[in-house]
Amino acid sequence: MTETAAQTIHLAEYQPPSHLIEDVSLTFRLDPKATRVLSEIRFVPNPAREDALAGKADLRLDGVQLKLISAAIDGNPVDVTPDATGLTLPAALLPAGPFTWEAEVEIAPAENTALEGLYMSNGMYCTQCEAEGFRKITYYLDRPDVMAPFRVRIESDLPVLLSNGNPVAAGPELAEWEDPWPKPAYLFALVAGDLVAHIDRFVTRSGETVDLNVWVRPGDEGKCAYAMDSLKRAMKWDEEVYGREYDLDIFNIVAVDDFNMGAMENKGLNIFNSKYVLASPETATDDDFARIEAIIAHEYFHNWTGNRITCRDWFQLCLKEGLTVFRDQSFSGDMRSHAVKRIEDVLDLRARQFREDAGPLAHPVRPDHYQEINNFYTATVYDKGAEVIAMLKRLVGDDAYRKALDLYFERHDGEAATIEDWLKVFEDTTGRDLSQFKRWYTDAGTPHLKVTDDFKDGSYTLHFEQETAPTPGQAEKPPRVIPIAVGLLNPNGDEVVPTQMLEMTEAKQSFSFDGLAARPVPSILRGFSAPVILERETSAEERAFLLAHDTDPFNRWEAGRGLAKQVLLRMVTEGAAPAPGYLSGIEALLRDNGLDPAFRALALRLPSEDDMAQTLHAAGITPDPSRIHAARQDLQRALASQLSALLPALYTEMAVPGAYTPDAAAAGKRALRGAALALLTRLDDGATAQGQFAKADNMTEQLGALAALLDIGKGTDEVTAFETRWRADRLVMDKWFSLQVLYAAPEACAATAARLTEHPDFDWKNPNRFRSVLGALPANAAGFHDPSGASYRLLADWIIRLDPLNPQTAARMSSAFETWARYDGDRQDLICGALERIRQTPGLSRDLNEMTARMLG
Ligand code: ARG
Ligand code: ZN
Repeated sequence: MTETAAQTIHLAEYQPPSHLIEDVSLTFRLDPKATRVLSEIRFVPNPAREDALAGKADLRLDGVQLKLISAAIDGNPVDVTPDATGLTLPAALLPAGPFTWEAEVEIAPAENTALEGLYMSNGMYCTQCEAEGFRKITYYLDRPDVMAPFRVRIESDLPVLLSNGNPVAAGPELAEWEDPWPKPAYLFALVAGDLVAHIDRFVTRSGETVDLNVWVRPGDEGKCAYAMDSLKRAMKWDEEVYGREYDLDIFNIVAVDDFNMGAMENKGLNIFNSKYVLASPETATDDDFARIEAIIAHEYFHNWTGNRITCRDWFQLCLKEGLTVFRDQSFSGDMRSHAVKRIEDVLDLRARQFREDAGPLAHPVRPDHYQEINNFYTATVYDKGAEVIAMLKRLVGDDAYRKALDLYFERHDGEAATIEDWLKVFEDTTGRDLSQFKRWYTDAGTPHLKVTDDFKDGSYTLHFEQETAPTPGQAEKPPRVIPIAVGLLNPNGDEVVPTQMLEMTEAKQSFSFDGLAARPVPSILRGFSAPVILERETSAEERAFLLAHDTDPFNRWEAGRGLAKQVLLRMVTEGAAPAPGYLSGIEALLRDNGLDPAFRALALRLPSEDDMAQTLHAAGITPDPSRIHAARQDLQRALASQLSALLPALYTEMAVPGAYTPDAAAAGKRALRGAALALLTRLDDGATAQGQFAKADNMTEQLGALAALLDIGKGTDEVTAFETRWRADRLVMDKWFSLQVLYAAPEACAATAARLTEHPDFDWKNPNRFRSVLGALPANAAGFHDPSGASYRLLADWIIRLDPLNPQTAARMSSAFETWARYDGDRQDLICGALERIRQTPGLSRDLNEMTARMLG
């Protein structure tokens, strides 16, 4: 590996490309060790670049790890010497007008362990080009603002040969594909392998028939039905809700086992991590089904938000990702329950994005500099990016949102756009000035919203104060626009003021409600109307009141959450006993059969240990992960005994009769049943869980039982039985690996993970398997932060080992260390020591180099 000094790319230095591309033709002669790629690319000087028009601009092509065999311009061989990142065609060598560049290069997909570019997974060829993988396939202007139609010819004896667009020719050991829609190179894809298809059809609103294929390895064809069903529902939804139709004759999805991320929206040929495609009741949990539905929809929705309209440069990543996450969240809400989906999304946002925003890796939704763009596929870009769009929609209203989106598609179809373009369609639609709103894109950090109130002469006033702590490189944080949804309840529980959207724009601002007979109880930030941290002195009584009466389901759940955190905080810091008010409030909610079981299951879920560590740190208290773990276990035992009369009944009542179906109603019941089981296990020493494990005909219940047993230190026999039964199923075995680490006792966690890495099936080069052990380690908070430091060392060892092979995944895993500043001096020394050891490793990748530098400051 060559060591190059890290270069920082800045948004402010954006330059249009010297040349544009009119048309691309590629031929692949596939071979594991020596694939030949022939390219024929029609370049034209970019009219936006005077130097190019004047014949004074060199053409710099990106190319990495390529062996150049030959090159020609307009048919005349040229002699060029590539360097480590590409090659330069000097202006003097280039014809004045359009010209054709031809090159033949050789690459070795079987040796590509980084899983970026063209690589092999279980004997099949596949690609991952986003963000900058195409340059590992051939010399090109590998940047998203260069869009072109592609024609691809694949020569191979493998039976299935796929690329983007529509199939135009096929012969023995040969296939040709043509994609008429201009696209950037990051959306290029190629797949070749021994694959079988689960097929179906979709007829668009305008009557065009689209062939749908989900391609998998032979043997997996029985696990594609849910992905296919999700795809068809997503296609219909995008027509109905956004007016967007599909635009090719065929839509292909391929499942691959070795994949760095979740999935990829390549035009007409989505490539997926197999864990987000393959599902059967026996092998996939309810959560897996829900994630498959969401990710299939996400990648499909990219066809318009990402592909037809793409990003001008990688700083604009949130333009496609934030919007597409927002769209897939709305879709899942429509398919299931909006209240439940919102709570789950906020849980995830707080766990990953708030955590990121509070530490050394904080960056704006639209970053303004980077070294390695792969390090910015983050919760901030994706999930906060989606929150920003949700806020925009709240501020302008549903109708204006739809009009603005119509204008966006009309104005920018076929273009590579920016956040400025995006905001402009909203300004033009509504006449609003969004310059202050734009701070949500440019300023990092989570605003704290402090609230006080007073009541006098029938007038109730809420006083808000917003403040955002400095983040790396951004000391000043001017006030943002914050949509605050507020409702007021009467002391008897009736709603006196239904939800209103307050629009806060100042650092300090007050809002009054007049004509009230009594002091109301406020329900603030309903539906989590902005990604902020609400700070308000709230009594346990008031929270219990809202838990019982709030008409906004999110805030009702939030009240229970707030209570649980208050209770846990006092248990950790004062050794207090679990507050009876909390226990009885939760019991009342659980007994309310009018409430959606999925909602009740969420209300019963305690804040995670990491969430508590973050909460304590924010309150100025150094968190002790061991104490947090112990307190949380105590609270679960207290809940179990409070609910001892209810649990067996609830467990029986929530059983879903008949064959397993993955729909939201059945999944919700199983979720509540599983939550009841986890508590019941603490009362019956695991008897019910053991019974369930033995009888379960679906993975949700089998895994739920196993987790419940492991959580009380039992389940040894079940772990063995599970392994025997599922040894041949990679995706199920990932669960087996990860559960043992997740539920290991804190002091045994590192040893458990280390032991599992010795298991013959621990194929560490497979990202899913690597994550199933080394990604589960930090998820066991007390185990990860065990004072011995053994977990820190183990994770660092494995990151160092993975980096030369797969820098992307290694770098992602390193963010487990981002919270080091929360902890006591001893732990800080241990974590920073581990980070320092990674940083000092000779030949470290650019990816990890940037991550460790940001974390260590
Ligand atoms: N665009 C893909 C998605 O969100 C993510 C691909 C990211 N891959 C990467 N190597 N950075 O669906
Ligand atoms: Zn995406």
